[in-house]
Amino acid sequence: MSYKSEYDLSITQPEKFWMEKASKLPWYNQPQNILSKDNNGVHRWFEDGVMNTCYMAVDYHVEQGLGEQIAIFYDSPVTNSKSSYTYRQLRDEVALFAGVLAEQGVGKGDRVVIYMPMVAEAVIAMLAVARLGAIHSVVFGGFAPHELAMRIDDAEPKVLVTASCGIEVSKIIEYKPYVDEAIRQAKHKVEHCIVLQREQSKAELIAGRDLDWHTAISAATPASCVPVKGTDPLYILYTSGTTGKPKGVVRDNGGHAVALHYSMDAVYNMKQGEVFWAASDVGWVVGHSYIVYGPLLKGCTTIVYEGKPIRTPDASAFWRVAQEYNVKTLFAAPTAFRAIRKEDPEATLLADFPLQNLQTIFMAGERLDPPTYQWTCEKTGKPVIDHWWQTETGWAICANMLGIERKPAKPGSATLPVPGFDVQILDDEGKHMPPCKQGSIAIKLPMPPGCLPTIWGNQDRFVAGYLTQNPGYYCSGDGGYKDEDGYVFIMGRTDDVINVAGHRLSTGEMEEILAAHPAVAECSVIGVHDSLKGQVPIGMVLLKDGVDIDEAKLQAELIANVRHEIGPIACFSRAIVVQRLPKTRSGKILRKLLRQISAGEPYNIPSTIDDPESVTEIASIMDKQGLITIEKAS
Ligand code: COA
Ligand code: AMP
Repeated sequence: MSYKSEYDLSITQPEKFWMEKASKLPWYNQPQNILSKDNNGVHRWFEDGVMNTCYMAVDYHVEQGLGEQIAIFYDSPVTNSKSSYTYRQLRDEVALFAGVLAEQGVGKGDRVVIYMPMVAEAVIAMLAVARLGAIHSVVFGGFAPHELAMRIDDAEPKVLVTASCGIEVSKIIEYKPYVDEAIRQAKHKVEHCIVLQREQSKAELIAGRDLDWHTAISAATPASCVPVKGTDPLYILYTSGTTGKPKGVVRDNGGHAVALHYSMDAVYNMKQGEVFWAASDVGWVVGHSYIVYGPLLKGCTTIVYEGKPIRTPDASAFWRVAQEYNVKTLFAAPTAFRAIRKEDPEATLLADFPLQNLQTIFMAGERLDPPTYQWTCEKTGKPVIDHWWQTETGWAICANMLGIERKPAKPGSATLPVPGFDVQILDDEGKHMPPCKQGSIAIKLPMPPGCLPTIWGNQDRFVAGYLTQNPGYYCSGDGGYKDEDGYVFIMGRTDDVINVAGHRLSTGEMEEILAAHPAVAECSVIGVHDSLKGQVPIGMVLLKDGVDIDEAKLQAELIANVRHEIGPIACFSRAIVVQRLPKTRSGKILRKLLRQISAGEPYNIPSTIDDPESVTEIASIMDKQGLITIEKAS
């Protein structure tokens, strides 16, 4: 099979294409209505299919005789512990925890928020929610109580599942006080909180509201899988947009299962029984798709790794895990490899790990810079594949499709559109750009299965954010170009979203926090190049008239505020005071211009600018502060 024939079929006959892919999964009722439109006019896949994602990912494999195969390896250098679950054990644990949730009143369509570290119980909780036909919303553990509270108010969960603590290298992060604070801040009242007590730190439970995970499990009756429709939601995952309020990306059951199942083979060339390791966190989309659902839907073995690429204990961590579990495919963010390279530039620690089973390293989540690409190829001797995707799509939009036909790699490119994604480069007026000309990357509708059908509780935001810019297209928010061979090059966000260590963050949200400081009149936060984390946010603040404050003190307060409101994961560590910010005559700060200056890109000073000299002034300040980067090729 050639990539071209597969891709062309997916675009010219999408229903035929996806019906065939869907038929490979164990539905209770196979879908007949493959592609339809909902009441909002949005394309939906497999509307009349009846299924359960947990059944497809777990129970079905046990029924097929894979009960004794390992489903999950849990490896935790931070607690010095390891364990594993066969598919049978996983099914039994999930059924019991689903019983616990059902006992707390969770049923089809109810929401459950999961705020947990990287422990196998996080995966069990997700699958248990899916088993009941309920909807999970996993919140990354590095987010502060305020972020958790916003998500609680938006998702309105019946139950929250958490752990007493997480461990960051050697630091114990008490989760429970964060949860208590978030529940206190939220307007929506969570009825029950289930707490996994970890021996590193036991949490205090609130009588009547909190339940101990293990006690609850020991009294539980296993729950069966609840049939849902293909278009019923499986989860909500919040991601950063351009405003302070995160967007609840909705994922449906049917399209998600079909897309991920297909991708395991087509993109990653994974077969049942093989070991796939996505070194991410269940709090991110990569964790949802490729720690949990993708590998399990395919009957593979997945790894829940509670550690870092470095310092747990050293820069050999990835090699050790890949070796120990016979990993065939490793998927991680470029930041992780930059961290390893920084600690062990010659990769001397690799010498102890022949990695004979490791076939490919996939990277995504942020731009794969050519030096990191080259270093990883050279030191590991393994093919490194850059692929591009987003929380919204849930799986790769562009990739080198190893399971179909391997194409020659081009550094800096995420290769070719994945079947189902009709990727186009458009200019500001929506016209198609010629090869090698940069524009907005848009995807012609319909998007393939697995992509978001809406934003939770906010259809207007979905339409305004993604469908309005170019009618008939999904706007990705990324800019880039296609070369003469159709290879796609992603050049970065065209909006105010930044990517810090592969984590997507909103500069708009940080600006709201800075602006709330009593000394700050106006501000702008932009992402600047960072050799480890890809980008880090920096704030430029204008003080209110008459304010006299020590700059270092102000900076410390702003840093503390961002940490307190968003969490340490924002990596906000620098704020500089400026006298002027470039603005339009209507008072809008020219953020794009600031980004371009910082990235060392050519820029035009818009005719609408209020004070052209402010541009020269800010460029000079950014230069003096070392905030202008022109990325070098090696
Ligand atoms: N719970 C609580 N706090 C967390 C957390 C979690 N799950 N994850 C990170 N944090 C905290 C860290 O402890 C750190 O806090 P500090 O400022 O008090 O030290 C802060 O958030 C920033 O964390 P991080 O960005 O992870 O920086 P780091 O210096 O600890 O580690 C790397 C650097 C490169 C090793 C790390 O960023 C990394 O592994 N990156 C890859 C991330 C990844 O896989 N992204 C892909 C998502 S698809
Ligand atoms: P997230 O939704 O957190 O997965 O972040 C998605 C964003 O990360 C995309 O819109 C891109 O800006 C960026 N991104 C993801 N993968 C890549 C990649 N391979 N190359 C460049 N940028 C990427």
